[in-house]
Amino acid sequence: MADTGTTATDWRAWQQSWDRQQEWYMPDREERFRIMLDMVEAFVGTEPRVLDLACGTGTITARLLARFPGATSTGVDLDPALLAIARGTFEGDDRVTFVEADLKDPAWPTLLPHGAYDAVLTATALHWLRTGPLEALYGQVAELVRYGGVFMNADHMIDDTTPRINAAERTQRHARMDRAMREGALDWAEWWQLAAKDPALAAPTARRFEIYGAHADGEMPSAAWHARVLREKGFAEARPVWRSPSDTLLLALK
Ligand SMILES: C[S@@+](CC[C@H](N)C(=O)[O-])C[C@H]1O[C@@H](n2cnc3c(N)ncnc32)[C@H](O)[C@@H]1O
Repeated sequence: MADTGTTATDWRAWQQSWDRQQEWYMPDREERFRIMLDMVEAFVGTEPRVLDLACGTGTITARLLARFPGATSTGVDLDPALLAIARGTFEGDDRVTFVEADLKDPAWPTLLPHGAYDAVLTATALHWLRTGPLEALYGQVAELVRYGGVFMNADHMIDDTTPRINAAERTQRHARMDRAMREGALDWAEWWQLAAKDPALAAPTARRFEIYGAHADGEMPSAAWHARVLREKGFAEARPVWRSPSDTLLLALK
């Protein structure tokens, strides 16, 4: 993946390496993307204008365009290293635009190329925010989704009323991750150490650690909390459309 000075950086290899690292945490990651796109097709068709919120390397955008070549996507994120991988992967594809912005900044929607979207999609990201900023963000998302459009969030959502079930699930999940580590999987910290060694990613990786530290300090409210807030902010319906033992894909319909 490293740029030796004679060969260009292999952005697709970085993209795939990111996906493998995320799958270490979520072996069912592709399943949630599949259901997400099933729901996109059901509600807004096969040529949607999509906002990939907290897009990282652009995994949702990649799955979207592979399935619906007539779709367009705007990816928004704050991480300069993940955005570098995203921009490199989609270079020359005029269906895709990337915007560097902080979703906690009230002005971020003004940076977008469009004022309305058929679908706003996000995965494994909004737990980086505390509930106050997330409520504000949901208000902005409700304004960006057109009438009849959808918002979907696949993320860790924890029901605090089931502590013993949560503990058992966590034990099983960590045991599975330990097994995968022994078989050579890279975890979050190791993946970033590798990125820091790539000449093309070293500077943006240093910047992302200045922005976030190791990880942002967020919260993981329940699916019921997400559904309630999304309705309060202007969505007509909201409920899970997929679940794993730890995660939920929540759909809100405008
Ligand atoms: C675990 S990654 C997931 C990326 C991508 N959605 C995926 O599924 O691969 C979480 C992403 O959320 C982004 N993020 C977290 N807080 C953010 C904020 N305040 N503004 C913009 N992006 C943010 C991070 O930069 C990171 O790219």
